[in-house]
This record gives sequence, C-alpha cells and structure tokens, in this order.
Amino acid sequence: MKNNIVLCGFMGCGKTTIGKALAKALSFSFVDSDAVIEQTAGKTITEIFAEHGEAYFRGIEKSIIKSLSQQKGLVIATGGGVMLKSENAEALKKTGSVIFLDVSKDEVLKRLENDTTRPLLQRPDRENAISELLIKRRPCYLDAADITVNADTCVETVTEEILKQLKNI
Ligand code: S3P
Repeated sequence: MKNNIVLCGFMGCGKTTIGKALAKALSFSFVDSDAVIEQTAGKTITEIFAEHGEAYFRGIEKSIIKSLSQQKGLVIATGGGVMLKSENAEALKKTGSVIFLDVSKDEVLKRLENDTTRPLLQRPDRENAISELLIKRRPCYLDAADITVNADTCVETVTEEILKQLKNI
C-alpha cells in the first residue's frame, strides 16, 4: 500500500461515502477533490461549469489533483472525470493505491435519479448520456486501478472488500 488511497469511478459509484468509511478504518484523513475545488473557487461545481465552462473546471481540477497527490495519509475521492487525463492518473498513482469502484449504468441511474449537482448529466436523455460516458470512461478507470471492486452493493460490503484487497498489494 502506498502513502494515499485514491478512489476513482463514475458519478454515483460511492467514492465519497466509501472514502469516508475507508479513512475511518485506516485512520487516514478523507478529502474529496470536488469539495476542494469548490472551496478554492468559492463556487459550486454547477456554478463553475455554468459561468466558466468545463475546460476551466478541468484546469482547477488538475492543479488540485497535483497538490493532493503530493500529500500523505489521505483517502482521496476523485471526481468522475479525473482519470481521463493521463497526467492526473500518473500523479495520483505515484503516491497512491488506486481503487476503481465499478458501478453499473442501472445503479447510477437509480442513485442519481433526482440529482441536480452533476452538470454533465443535466440532459433530457440522461440514460444515454450515462451509457455513453460509462463506455468511454471505464477503460480509463480500469487502466488507472490497482484494485477494482464491484460497487453495486452496499457501503459495508464494498469497504470490507477494499480493506481485504489492500492487504494483498
Ligand atoms: C464529473 C464528476 C463529478 C464532478 C463534475 C464532473 C465527471 O464528480 O467532478 O461534475 O466528469 O464525471 P463525482 O464523480 O464525484 O460526481
């Protein structure tokens, strides 16, 4: 196990909830890259996308990821788009064991049914958007991961599985 634990995966896969449970179990500090972006910008993710666009958001995201990857003793929940940039993935992998929370399209649809905080999913064809993004992104998550776990189950089961697998790396 490296200095940090990094959780990656699609929106709604449970990075924040599971990250908090893992941090508690390992006595690490929990940090959510989206929350740091919001604090840094003084705006919500929705406001950043609406006022400045996605490219601007990705720029802040990149610098936050660089800074988090230079720290120690963190469980880092990354935004769903972080691992798409190889520079982000490389920085995080240098200091962290990367865990991919592999969630199905149906589970994402169910979990985010009433969500209004993900700009990329505010579309009438939400199901198609999720399918397309999942197909495009899953290989990036898999590529970055040291450990992949099925994230369609409950927090306790996923957390236990991660803790078990972390002992083997
Ligand atoms: C994004 C996922 C979001 C947030 C932003 C963009 C993405 O984070 O970073 O809305 O590109 O998948 P979560 O994965 O925590 O929802």
